[in-house]
Amino acid sequence: MSLNISSVNMNGKRLESTLISLKSVKKSFPSAGDGVAVLKGISFAIEPGERVSILGPGGCGKSTVLKIAVGLVEPDKSADGEIPVGAVTLGNVDMFRGEKPDIARVLRQVGMAFQQGALFDFMTVRENLLFAMENMTSLTPAEMEEVLKGLLTGVKLGHTENQFPYELSGGMQRRVGIARALATDPSIAIFDEPTAGLDPVTSTIILNMILELGGRGGEGGRTLLVATSNVEIAIRFARRVILINDGAVVADGPWQDLILKGSDWVRHFLGVRLIGLDLAYARGLNLPQQFLDAHWG
Ligand SMILES: Nc1ncnc2c1ncn2[C@@H]1O[C@H](COP(=O)(O)OP(=O)(O)O)[C@@H](O)[C@H]1O
Ligand SMILES: [Mg+2]
Repeated sequence: MSLNISSVNMNGKRLESTLISLKSVKKSFPSAGDGVAVLKGISFAIEPGERVSILGPGGCGKSTVLKIAVGLVEPDKSADGEIPVGAVTLGNVDMFRGEKPDIARVLRQVGMAFQQGALFDFMTVRENLLFAMENMTSLTPAEMEEVLKGLLTGVKLGHTENQFPYELSGGMQRRVGIARALATDPSIAIFDEPTAGLDPVTSTIILNMILELGGRGGEGGRTLLVATSNVEIAIRFARRVILINDGAVVADGPWQDLILKGSDWVRHFLGVRLIGLDLAYARGLNLPQQFLDAHWG
């Protein structure tokens, strides 16, 4: 007799087979002009514990995809005026047709660092983190204090606890956003453009912080998503890259495969941003040998 334990975690609880799922999601904004679709039918599924980069040029629809995934923006309705069944699910909760308490429950497991920081300007760094924990966890004040200290030390901002966001640099604000997204110990953590507008050194520091603090991947681990228009950040963050262009998924898979076997557009988009790099540095990115030979050979 064989026991199928693949879908059962250590506590014996069934894991939902797909954690984040979008099916043929379309979106147009009336204000964006006469029926121009910003998303033209986006589909992907992300398993629990996966680490995924959502990559694409600025304006391709990454932030809209993320906001739809967490229910902040409604996708377009179909001809019957309804959002199609199962268009967007988190866990097994339908984000636009599910029961409000179910949606609220699943959202408590999501931590998101928005592109524009979205810290509360009228709260100190400390208050920003405590606010998230007070509203989304059942931690005791002492436990909150411990998480707060640990995360702020992790993002090297222990000394800014009582400062207001406007007193911090852009990179520091971004780090507070990362700490706040993780403060609730979410099972899904999402970082939208965590390094946009930052210099390469600061970008690397931030990427490493997300990887270190985000931690515990794999089955039963935390699902980590980064949306970025920076190819190097995307491939350093995750093996799986979902590449979006002009509101559609144009490639989805291990980036080493995409860089060698993707369409002309995909290979060009990925390649052109990498071939200017120093060879020694490029080697450190684990680029496929065939790609190194072709461009540095
Ligand atoms: N609320 C909105 N109203 C009108 N247009 C929007 C809105 N949000 C996004 N857009 C448009 O949708 C497109 C995709 O935007 P976005 O998802 O922010 O792309 P990305 O995050 O990849 O840069 C852009 O052309 C943007 O101007
Ligand atoms: Mg964006």
